[in-house]
Amino acid sequence: MRGAEPAIVCDAVSRCFGERLVLSSLTLAVERGEILGLLGPNGSGKTTTLRILATLLQPHGGSARVLSYDVASETMEVRRRIGVMPERPSLYERQTVEANVRLWADVHGLADPGEAVGRALQFVGLEDRRREPVGSLSKGLKQRVALARAIVHRPPVLLLDEPSSGLDPLAAAAMENLIRGLAGEGTAVLLNTHRLAEAERLCDRVAILREGRLLHLGTPRQVRAALLGHIVEVELAGAVDLPVRRAIESFPAVRETCWAPSAIRVRLTDSERDTPELVARLVSAGARIIAVRPAGDLERAYLELMSQPLPGSLAA
Ligand SMILES: Nc1ncnc2c1ncn2[C@@H]1O[C@H](COP(=O)(O)OP(=O)(O)O)[C@@H](O)[C@H]1O
Ligand SMILES: [Mg+2]
Repeated sequence: MRGAEPAIVCDAVSRCFGERLVLSSLTLAVERGEILGLLGPNGSGKTTTLRILATLLQPHGGSARVLSYDVASETMEVRRRIGVMPERPSLYERQTVEANVRLWADVHGLADPGEAVGRALQFVGLEDRRREPVGSLSKGLKQRVALARAIVHRPPVLLLDEPSSGLDPLAAAAMENLIRGLAGEGTAVLLNTHRLAEAERLCDRVAILREGRLLHLGTPRQVRAALLGHIVEVELAGAVDLPVRRAIESFPAVRETCWAPSAIRVRLTDSERDTPELVARLVSAGARIIAVRPAGDLERAYLELMSQPLPGSLAA
């Protein structure tokens, strides 16, 4: 491994198809052990980004690197270090689970392919189904075969294109846990998803793309706050009384307040920085707090962003 730069780096990456610019100067980085979610409407360039990192498409501008290896000029070095789950993983339906994963172990020329396949199948919980044809499995289990195939050579970098698409909530939750487990072992994960609640739970940071341009990049909390304002809801056991009112009104970070009988909505200067102090002040004023939560979620923030005209577009 070279250098100390992040595991995945996109440095002003652009890509055209014909005359159309589908990725416009995309810059982002993913650290080891980090999960970065790429969000955006259909056609916003998410798959293109993954395909460039997977060495399947050349960037037309800028550069992209995986563990400091350039995806355009050091293709083999990159391929050895990435695991890829494509949008439609093409599995051999008539072959067994084991044979599908084994094929990939052989492609990578692993020293002990049998052991590697066993370990990957154990990780995704498919050991007892190893002799069944893939065609007989549910969609959720097929996705797990695709994940096993992607991780059979223990890559330090994972590129997952909508890993939970089409899965029922239980299967999606299982996939989410597997991805979390891999990141916990230090794998850098870049994934595309349309499931905003999942992105909010799973991703350390999210990048929102629209028409090939990066509009927002940050923790789900930061993105939510940037788009929806720094609004926090506090739910109390019992009514809002005078000391509680005073505690809020005397806190300089409070910009706006909305009172309900046993709840308060406040807009803070910076919700991440100011919420702990707000809670401390409320508690010392005798408030009995049931819940403190940021208003809105990533999904609301996303919808808000998509309803705005694109900066620099003619509609703006
Ligand atoms: N091989 C291709 N040839 C021509 N246009 C393509 C090709 N692949 C993708 N595109 C176009 O590039 C844009 C971005 O596509 P894509 O990266 O697949 O978006 P997303 O994954 O965000 O839905 C789309 O408008 C798509 O039609
Ligand atoms: Mg896509």
